[in-house]
Amino acid sequence: MKVTIIGGGGRVGSNAAFALQCANLVSEIQILDANTDLAQGEALDLLHGASSLGDTRIYAGDYDRARDTNVFVITAGLRRKPEESRLDLINRNVALFRNILKDIRRAGHLGCAKFFIVSNPVDLLTHLATLELEVPAHQVLGLGTMLDTARFRSLIADELQLAPSQVKALILGEHGDSMIPVWSSATYGGLPLAGYPGCTPQFQKQIFERARGSGAEVIRQKGGAGWAVGATIADVVHAIALDRRQLLPVSSRQSGRVYGIRDISLSVPTIVGRDGVVDHVEIDLWPKEKQGLQASAQTLRQTLLKIS
Ligand code: 2OP
Repeated sequence: MKVTIIGGGGRVGSNAAFALQCANLVSEIQILDANTDLAQGEALDLLHGASSLGDTRIYAGDYDRARDTNVFVITAGLRRKPEESRLDLINRNVALFRNILKDIRRAGHLGCAKFFIVSNPVDLLTHLATLELEVPAHQVLGLGTMLDTARFRSLIADELQLAPSQVKALILGEHGDSMIPVWSSATYGGLPLAGYPGCTPQFQKQIFERARGSGAEVIRQKGGAGWAVGATIADVVHAIALDRRQLLPVSSRQSGRVYGIRDISLSVPTIVGRDGVVDHVEIDLWPKEKQGLQASAQTLRQTLLKIS
């Protein structure tokens, strides 16, 4: 399985490459970046660790050398300038993203390659990729609320002194302000989390707000996410590489079949395997959770209309 990380010279892309290298499950990782020196440097630094970490071949390349890629991971994106609105950033990143899609199309990579979008605004860029890449929608997916879900689970565990791997708690919807927590199916070791000692309504509100604000918190403290987003990127790549058919909160284009949501991309429970998006699953949600998810879809549709 060959993975090409477009934007691999940046923090998110290089941390994802490191997470994939540590797992030693994919055979090749190509680092592709507009800043070719940075791509070369990250590829060399990663290569130096190969004798300790495993036999994944890692190198810097270009679109022509990415022709045999199985999974493209697109992490390239610009950061918001202080004076910029969120929509200004969206339009700048959309322009950059469209150029990447053009380069991919020009190099003739389509085939059955999967396109895994991480760049923000991830739901809108995932949707654009399904419209502009001319591949079946199931071959396109976005990181969506995978990172939010990881943060949510880890913060709950940290606060309640639980084993993080045994805390199962989903965040769905937009990777953004309108994301929603799913307490109705949250568990610890298979037991309902909602009734667990300390998991009071006040705690639930506070910990979700912390998880939702974690992107900004990390930006304030270290300039942007890296390790956790790299780990969640690797989780999705491995679900594809090993055809794991895991239920993951990744972003993908909705057909209206689940929760009545259509014509937008966002995170609903999704089976991920060799073909990318294998299926969407409508798990039972509390009425307020379902309403929140539908409102999130509406928020994204309204922003999509504003994109130039
Ligand atoms: C975050 O939430 C990178 O959007 C990502 O940190």
